Parts: sequence; structure tokens; C-alpha cells
Amino acid sequence: TGIVTIDNGFVNTASCASAVTFLNGEEGVLKYRGYKIEELAEKSNFIEVAYLLVYGELPDRDQLTWFQEKINSFSETKAEVKNLMKQFPKDAHPMGVLSSVLSSMSAFYPEYLDQDLSKDKKDAIMAQLIAQVKNIAAYFYRVSQGQDLVDSKPNQFDYCSDFLNMMYGGGDYKPDPEVAKALNVLLILHADHEQNCSTSTVRLVGSSKANLYASIASGVSALWGPLHGGANQAVIEMLMQIQDDGGDYKKFLDKAKDKNDPFRLMGFGHRVYKNFDPRARIIKKACDTILEKLSIKDPLLDIAKGLEEEALKDSYFVERKLYPNVDFYSGIIYKALNIPTNMFTVMFALGRLPGWIAQWKEMIESSATKIGRPRQIFVGETDMAYKPIDQR
Ligand code: CMC
Repeated sequence: TGIVTIDNGFVNTASCASAVTFLNGEEGVLKYRGYKIEELAEKSNFIEVAYLLVYGELPDRDQLTWFQEKINSFSETKAEVKNLMKQFPKDAHPMGVLSSVLSSMSAFYPEYLDQDLSKDKKDAIMAQLIAQVKNIAAYFYRVSQGQDLVDSKPNQFDYCSDFLNMMYGGGDYKPDPEVAKALNVLLILHADHEQNCSTSTVRLVGSSKANLYASIASGVSALWGPLHGGANQAVIEMLMQIQDDGGDYKKFLDKAKDKNDPFRLMGFGHRVYKNFDPRARIIKKACDTILEKLSIKDPLLDIAKGLEEEALKDSYFVERKLYPNVDFYSGIIYKALNIPTNMFTVMFALGRLPGWIAQWKEMIESSATKIGRPRQIFVGETDMAYKPIDQR
């Protein structure tokens, strides 16, 4: 009903009303449930932010303990799921593995497939995913390295330290609190970003009342693309390419400006931010701090800073309001934390998970929700007669 118009890329179409994340792209403001991202990154931690996003308010001590214990109660991964991960080629892209394993969880946990989940089951599956995405990410890293798996030890470590221990543990490894802190900040900054491509995917899939595993697995697939979460991997690859090429970033800026060249400056530009991306500012600062603390001198950081400076002086980027986005500097931190390049987008997924869950919960709990079903403008043939194959 009504007039159907095309809104290519949904630039001006709101798909829902949401109270989760506020974003003002002109002024570079991002808030979760009313709290400024800058303040959360400085004072909070990822689990507290996850609670905030999902349940709508900052937890008190009892609520936080309840949430943490719920997540911890799902810290074990079924042997079948671990075995499944071992079947993938070691060099498989971890985003494909994450999406597949998440999808497969519907087979291992049929108790969460009810169309209308009770509150208890909803609380449980949300906590289970927060525990399990961390496990899947770390387990597959160990598989890809041909190493034995290290299990989660939630009674010993906080969420980020546990992840680090699962990745690098064994022997006398001890998670570095500075590294865990940097990881916390990165995950907080990625935790939600209103109706982006992957979140819209989670909502669209969930709007058919498909189960949460299927919805989140779809979100992971959407995030994988280089124009979305995959940009963090693409940025590091681009910076390395510039380095290998002798460090002449002007040449790459020219390539990005050339309309006959498909190359884009990865980590630059954003659909909504037209002034700056507040997450990029925090990450750039965090980059300096963590590299200094770990006594790492990464020439890629200098290249990134030089590239940013040059681009921000260039009329092409200025006129189009193209600024560094969240993905521009995040990869340099992940690299400093020894996370392999092909896992960067998995780190983004780990961070974005509470946002996906919060948006899914908001959607299924809203009486206004309808199945997502965009319209089209038909431009094809309408009057064809079928011809037998040898007459075509
Ligand atoms: N390098 C060179 N030119 C660019 C870039 C770039 N990174 N981004 C946009 N442009 C140009 C684009 O060619 C167009 O120029 P013109 O007006 O002459 O045709 C103009 O700027 C507007 O771009 P658009 O493609 O219409 O903008 P969009 O809102 O559809 O796309 C974007 C947003 C993020 C997909 C895009 O800026 C891009 O491809 N950036 C590189 C990939 C990237 O860093 N993605 C991460 C986004 S932030 C985190 C996340 O979502 O995961």
C-alpha cells in the first residue's frame, strides 16, 4: 500500500524505532542507552556494557553478578562443537567458521528454538552466545595454529583475560592486564552502532521468527564484507601494501580518488558520520598508549597517521566528508596484541554481539514488529512466451 520508491542503500529509510543507540553523524556523537561512548570506554567494561545494551540500564552489583554468572554457566563448549571446528581447513577464514559454527548450534541446542522464547530461555541463550562466541573465536585460532585447545576459565579470569588465555594460554602464559584493558576498550567501542548492515540483517532474519543462532550467524556473514567489518582486515592489508611499496601513501590517495580504479581508502568514510567518527578518535589514542606500554614500534602506525593527515588536507576527501572510521586504527592494536589479521573481523563480531542481541531483543519484544519485507520497482520483462530449448 502507498507509493513505493527506491531508497538505494536505505539512506533515508528507518526500518524501526529503537532506544538502544543514539548516533549524531554531523556532530560525531555516539551513545549507548544515553551514555557517551567516551565515558563508557574510559570507565566501564565490556560485560557491563553488554548488560547495559541488552537490558537497557547499567547493572547494580547484584545484576552484574547475576549476568556474569549466567555467562559463566555457559563457558563450556560441547565436545561435538569443538570437533566440528577441527574439521575445517586450518587456513579457513575464521568469519566463515564463526558463522557456520553459530548456525550449527541450533542443531546442538534445540531447546532454544521455540518461536516465542520464555524470559528464562531468552536470558539463557543471550548469555550463552556471549560466552560461546568468545570460545569459538579462540578455539578456532588454536585449531588454525595446530595447537591444543585451551578451555575457558571464568572463575579465574575476567572475560577479556579469559579470551587471551584461551588464545595464548598454556605454559606459564599470564594475560597482561594492559592488553586485557585495551581489548575491553575495543570491544566496548564496537558493541553497537544502531541499524548498520549486520544489525539490520540480524533484525531482518529475526523478524521472520527464525531462531537467534540463525539470526546472529547471518549478522556475522553481513559483517564479513570489506565495506563493513571486513574493513579492519582490509586496512592492515592496505597499510602493509603501502609499506611494501616504499611508503608512498600519496600514490594510494591518488588511486582512491581515481574513479576508474575500484580501490578505496579502507577505513575511511562512513554512511552516517560526516564530521568524524568518535570511535576512531578513541582508538587512535588507545593505539598510541598500548604500543607505548608494550614497547612496540609499528611503522604501520606512522603510515596510517601520515595517510590520515594527507587525506584530511585533500579536497577530494574534504568535499566528500571522508574521515577515518572505527576500522582505521583498530587493526594496529589487534596486531600489537598478536591477533592474526584474518581474525580482526572476528574481534569486531565479538564486540558487536551484545548490540545484535540487544537489537534482536528489542525487536521481538516490540508489538510494532512486522516481518521485514521491502518492496521493489520492477524493471524486467512482463510478457514472454515460453520457447522450447532448441528454438532459443
Ligand atoms: N575512498 C575513496 N572514496 C570514497 C571512500 C573511500 N574510502 N568512501 C567513499 N568514497 C567516495 C565515493 O566514491 C563517493 O564519491 P562520488 O560522490 O564521487 O561518487 C562518495 O565518497 C560517497 O561515497 P558512498 O559510497 O556513496 O558512501 P556510502 O555511504 O554508500 O559508503 C562506506 C560508506 C563506509 C561503505 C564507504 O565510505 C567505504 O567504502 N569506505 C571504505 C570501507 C570502510 O572503511 N568501511 C568501514 C565502515 S565503518 C565500520 C563498519 O561499518 O564496519
